[in-house]
Amino acid sequence: MERENQTAITEFVLLGLSGLLELQALLFLVFLMSYIIALTGNLFIFTLTLADPALHTPMYFFLRNLSFLEISYTSVTLPRMLANLLLEDKTISFTGCATQMYFLLFFGGTECFLLGIMAYDRYAAICHPLHYPCIMNNVRCTVMAAVSWLSGIFMSFGQTSVIFILPFCGSHEINHFFCDIPPILKLACGDTFLTEIVVFIVALVFITFPFVLILVSYLLIITTIMKMPSAEGRHKAFSTCSSHLVVVTLFFGTGTVMYLRPNSAYAPDIDKLLSLFYTVITPMLNPIIYSLRNKEVKEALRRVITRMCFLNSGR
Ligand SMILES: *[C@@H]1O[C@H](CO)[C@@H](O)[C@H](O)[C@H]1NC(C)=O
Repeated sequence: MERENQTAITEFVLLGLSGLLELQALLFLVFLMSYIIALTGNLFIFTLTLADPALHTPMYFFLRNLSFLEISYTSVTLPRMLANLLLEDKTISFTGCATQMYFLLFFGGTECFLLGIMAYDRYAAICHPLHYPCIMNNVRCTVMAAVSWLSGIFMSFGQTSVIFILPFCGSHEINHFFCDIPPILKLACGDTFLTEIVVFIVALVFITFPFVLILVSYLLIITTIMKMPSAEGRHKAFSTCSSHLVVVTLFFGTGTVMYLRPNSAYAPDIDKLLSLFYTVITPMLNPIIYSLRNKEVKEALRRVITRMCFLNSGR
């Protein structure tokens, strides 16, 4: 009987917020707006950093890579969440769920490393300006970005595999917006202890290593800024770094609570709220924080627009 049940589960149901019908329309609008803002913001940065030659520096190379990543990352969860809010049918196939988790962890893991590298890049630029072109040469930038993407691919493959080879019997209702680690582990039956340990250790490496790199980089940056002679330079460097730090802390902080706590502390309602921070809010904030507040980006935008007007009138 139990074996029969085990093989019987071919699909899951993503409950989302199905208990609160009156909230669904509002939630749909909020998610839709967030998705549009995240897509346009990241697409804007991607295009601008590509179009303006003055932005062909390591910092903007990583930023372009990050925007590309964020477009993919939000597209793993949000379209599905929007559809689930509209449709009666909230089922997702077993393979669909595994695929969603795979891409979620792939892009999420890559983002952790990419954010770490971006902090290191700022550290090199601010603390070692003379050696910066050498520290961040083209080859190194490409290799560092490639390492982020490859580590994301392999980590995600490992995590998704160890989770989805577990037997699933009994309930197939996922009390979440999408297929994330904690709600799926909750549904697995049999002994999940070893899997939980493996998943925890891998998540620990992917969260703490980049986050410590970021904290140390910014600590050194702040120390250097304090010694700057000009008040204007101090102010500029401070405003750039503090905004980066806030968004990064939001991303890693919510990720830490979600992935690095004992499974016994599982709380579906809090999880749903927390997961929105790293899947919806930070991808929306990143383009704003990293560039729209930044003078270089505004000037680049002016140049690109001028050039476009000039090209049009010149014809
Ligand atoms: C991001 O970096 C990787 C590795 O260097 C590269 O292959 C990829 O083309 C980059 N993506 C974009 C959109 O710049």
